[in-house]
Amino acid sequence: MSFGLGHGRQLDDAPGVVGVTAHELPTLPDEAISNPELARIDPRGWFRDPAAPFEIEIGSGKGSFLLQEAAANPGTNYLGIEWAREFYLYAADRVRRRSLANVRMLHTDASEFLRWRCPDAVVRVIHLYYSDPWPKSRHHKNRVIQDRFLAQAHRVLMPGGELRVVTDHVELWAWCEEHFARWTQAGGPGGVGGNAVPAGSGPLFVRRDFVAPTWADDDELIGTNYEKKTRAEGRPPNACVLVKG
Ligand SMILES: C[S@@+](CC[C@H](N)C(=O)[O-])C[C@H]1O[C@@H](n2cnc3c(N)ncnc32)[C@H](O)[C@@H]1O
Repeated sequence: MSFGLGHGRQLDDAPGVVGVTAHELPTLPDEAISNPELARIDPRGWFRDPAAPFEIEIGSGKGSFLLQEAAANPGTNYLGIEWAREFYLYAADRVRRRSLANVRMLHTDASEFLRWRCPDAVVRVIHLYYSDPWPKSRHHKNRVIQDRFLAQAHRVLMPGGELRVVTDHVELWAWCEEHFARWTQAGGPGGVGGNAVPAGSGPLFVRRDFVAPTWADDDELIGTNYEKKTRAEGRPPNACVLVKG
């Protein structure tokens, strides 16, 4: 069985010790299909200080956010997940050259990693910046934000944990707003998103304003390559934070 590792890609080809290896994230046991708990592996153990707060960036691209955020917060561990091999290698090499011991890179589909491998309540923040918009209707299923993704994000975040989202894409933002409305309403989303979230009376997430990191320039939210590009093209960002209730 190979699901959860992302399209059969290899994990043992990363530069230095930055890339998560196949030894650290072994293939799923067959029994995991009937008992997902057997597939879980605690990613905090991949870091020098496993007790440090743990955050994930989905779609790290060239790694600009990770480099700045991890350098500013050496006491926090960051896992960058990137499914495009060339960007994964590029970002991992940048991390290695900066000697950032609090950053690891994983070459896989982040949604599958959360669904199959990540244990409950271990993540403090999930960062999702300038996610691919997949504008054609038949490709909407490829967008990261889905009800089933939000169910898994809710499961893996610790109480008070945050999903931080920024995008310049107007139509993707409308899609996010539609999904976020379901997950921030009283009573929760009501049965959508699979069975990861039991029905409750209060909202599963509370929405807050996005606050730019202190290292960002005055006119930036997160200063990634995509943010610089889209701002230069006159497309301002939309952003928000969903806090696990
Ligand atoms: C538009 S780029 C933005 C990159 C970076 N966050 C930035 O702001 O410059 C989106 C990135 O997310 C990656 N990506 C999209 N879906 C992904 C997924 N499910 N798992 C991991 N990476 C993903 C793409 O390969 C791409 O590098």
